[in-house]
Amino acid sequence: MSLRVLIKRSVALTCAYYLFDDWRARRRLAAGDLATGSGARHENLDIDASLAYVDRVYGDYLAYGGLERFTGSVAEIGPGDSFAVALRILGGGAEHVHAIDRWVSRRDAEAQRRIYSALAERDDLARLFDGAPAEKTIRNLTYHAGQPAETFFRESGLRFDAILSRAVMEHLYDPLAALDDMAESLAPGGVMVHRIDLRDHGMFAGHHPLTLLTLSGGLHWRITRSAGRPNRVLLPAYRAWLEGSGLAGGIAVSRLAGVAAEQNPAPWEALDESARAQALDCVRAIRPRLAEGFKAMRDEDLAVAGLVLIARKSHH
Ligand SMILES: C[S@@+](CC[C@H](N)C(=O)[O-])C[C@H]1O[C@@H](n2cnc3c(N)ncnc32)[C@H](O)[C@@H]1O
Repeated sequence: MSLRVLIKRSVALTCAYYLFDDWRARRRLAAGDLATGSGARHENLDIDASLAYVDRVYGDYLAYGGLERFTGSVAEIGPGDSFAVALRILGGGAEHVHAIDRWVSRRDAEAQRRIYSALAERDDLARLFDGAPAEKTIRNLTYHAGQPAETFFRESGLRFDAILSRAVMEHLYDPLAALDDMAESLAPGGVMVHRIDLRDHGMFAGHHPLTLLTLSGGLHWRITRSAGRPNRVLLPAYRAWLEGSGLAGGIAVSRLAGVAAEQNPAPWEALDESARAQALDCVRAIRPRLAEGFKAMRDEDLAVAGLVLIARKSHH
């Protein structure tokens, strides 16, 4: 048996490895090394699959936000290895996109060039490039690499008509404070759309899907704060944030604990009954082992493993 398999079998050994890995990530960040494999989404996709992914993410943002197109200034947090979604946002009519990332995802420049060229041709977007289609030639795009969302919105002084993220908020070390800053940064009439994946991102693969929620708060902080592993901010915290934010909006459920299939984002009551029952069973099986803070949560809240948060600022 390999050492990796042996470590993965034990939750304690897995945590010990993540402790070491978090220390390593902290050292890399301190040395200014922003490279990460997180967000290398297009690495193993062919051009058709890449375009389908980009179209899906863009289409989801519009659908969740109830918009036909984006306008004005848009922030995309954690774009990962491609600005193709940003390109589609610009193509739809936005004036400027700010891409904000704590790290710089590993990318294949040639594969990305192919994606930009294909989009430029398919959607007639050559005007959005300053020369041949490539990452560096996209007009009206600013890449804020090395800037965590937790500091960017507080410090930039910029105003946005839309703030978007997908599979990012769960990696923030302080997502609720960052949301406060984003709310401040929204222009009147502006909208936020965050699709948030609350699963453990494979940290405890082979164990119960909610094993991450059994770790003490201190241990969890030590193994996640620098490496960007999932923060355990769950549905009740986002709900309370939205209620206290003064913004209009809502939360839809996009994933259920222990259920492999994604859910079409909808309120809990509207989801498939057997899928909900499966998720509730999943929660009940681990309830006695839950760490403080999660014990008091309702089964229905712990059963939500992914959500879409929408928040809108009024026009005046
Ligand atoms: C899982 S990837 C998602 C990539 C892309 N949005 C997608 O859906 O394919 C997470 C991204 O969030 C970025 N990220 C993690 N923590 C962040 C933070 N605190 N502030 C800004 N970006 C962050 C990562 O570097 C990475 O690009």
